[in-house]
Amino acid sequence: MSTRDLWNRYAKYFNAEEGIVFPADKPELDFYTQLREEYTGACLEIGAGSGRLAGSLQGKSVTVALEPSDSMLHDWTASDRKLAMRIQGTGEEMPFRSGSFPVVVFPYNGLQCVPEEDIRIGIINEAFRVTAPGGIFLLEVSPVFSRRDSEPLTERYCARMPDGTRLILREKVERRRNPDSVKYHMFYTTVDDSSETTEEITLNLAVTSRDEIINLLMKAGFCDIIQWGNYDRSPYDDELSPRLLVLALKGMRNAITSCSYSYVNNHIR
Ligand SMILES: C[S@@+](CC[C@H](N)C(=O)[O-])C[C@H]1O[C@@H](n2cnc3c(N)ncnc32)[C@H](O)[C@@H]1O
Repeated sequence: MSTRDLWNRYAKYFNAEEGIVFPADKPELDFYTQLREEYTGACLEIGAGSGRLAGSLQGKSVTVALEPSDSMLHDWTASDRKLAMRIQGTGEEMPFRSGSFPVVVFPYNGLQCVPEEDIRIGIINEAFRVTAPGGIFLLEVSPVFSRRDSEPLTERYCARMPDGTRLILREKVERRRNPDSVKYHMFYTTVDDSSETTEEITLNLAVTSRDEIINLLMKAGFCDIIQWGNYDRSPYDDELSPRLLVLALKGMRNAITSCSYSYVNNHIR
């Protein structure tokens, strides 16, 4: 199944979980708001989904939301649509001129939603290409998936939706090696007064280590790479951090060749 088809089917459940089943993650929203205040100019969000971060990423300059899924793009609220220019497309083949964006972000494990390694590499290379010289690329991944084991089918939640239906998620986790991935078999059951339907969605998330991510970024040409372990900008710790946020700088055009690729480990602002 193509990325687009998968996310077309998954969109309504993903969007129900983000904000209805589970509350909005305020530290995450604040992190992107602060980033956008610090780094100005046109901003590109790769894998923008249904605009969950549109409010945080809005700025004085334009924000462009790139997203492959029709359903995700359709689910943007009327007010969020005013905050960003929505464009359908994938990260590995971006419809933008080189150096167009001083700020490029790929939040919320979006890169790990791409199981094929060559496509992940293509996305990072494209992110480098469209980032303006002197601009930044912010990428969020979760190396903690590497500690995930297989789990039997278990009910995760049963939640009341705004339309009165109940949404139940049962999930089985399959840990795979070679390629290293975590496969989520999700069974979403929607229950109303007269019917009950179940849809199965399978999401294959790539397992990536911190070193793999840093190497990919450096090979693409990014220079200084700041690493945080959470939205509070605490230092990254392989054992303890819930996520990895990397802020990678694209050196100025004539400085790239002499760039030392300085590896700014656990830099705290
Ligand atoms: C985990 S969701 C995050 C959505 C949104 N950024 C958010 O934080 O709510 C990952 C998004 O990446 C998109 N995606 C998947 N493969 C992609 C690709 N190759 N290029 C760009 N986006 C992709 C999916 O359609 C999905 O909307």
